[in-house]
Amino acid sequence: MQPAKADWSPAIETGLPEIDDQHRQLFELAATFRGEGDQIRVMRALSMLAEYASTHLRDEEAMLQAIGYPALESHREQHRLFRAMLSALLDESRHLTLDQIATRIEELINGWFYRHILTVDAEYVPAVKAQRDAAGVAD
Ligand SMILES: [Fe+2]
Ligand SMILES: [Fe+2]
Repeated sequence: MQPAKADWSPAIETGLPEIDDQHRQLFELAATFRGEGDQIRVMRALSMLAEYASTHLRDEEAMLQAIGYPALESHREQHRLFRAMLSALLDESRHLTLDQIATRIEELINGWFYRHILTVDAEYVPAVKAQRDAAGVAD
């Protein structure tokens, strides 16, 4: 059984360094929402997280497109869903307490995104590695 929510750990490493760095960075940003905070800092962190997430999703999609990954369209669909959830949170955040924002971030990153890495991201890893091995790129 996968945990409902979890922090970043080596268990979700893909072995693709640039992807792992971006995944880990998103969990680090998510962790900054815990504990005491002030409205301005939280709003700034929220837009940073949204921006960083969209960079990651775009880079990942570009990587998959470059190798002609067959399941790219369904992967993109998952990313669209994630972007929509993040942008809904951004829109609603003005009306939420800091605790509510922290809870939503935890659901999104430590919940949804964690499971996405373990399932949907994990599916592309063999294809990307095979391509890199064939191209003689060390991983
Ligand atoms: Fe993904
Ligand atoms: Fe990813």
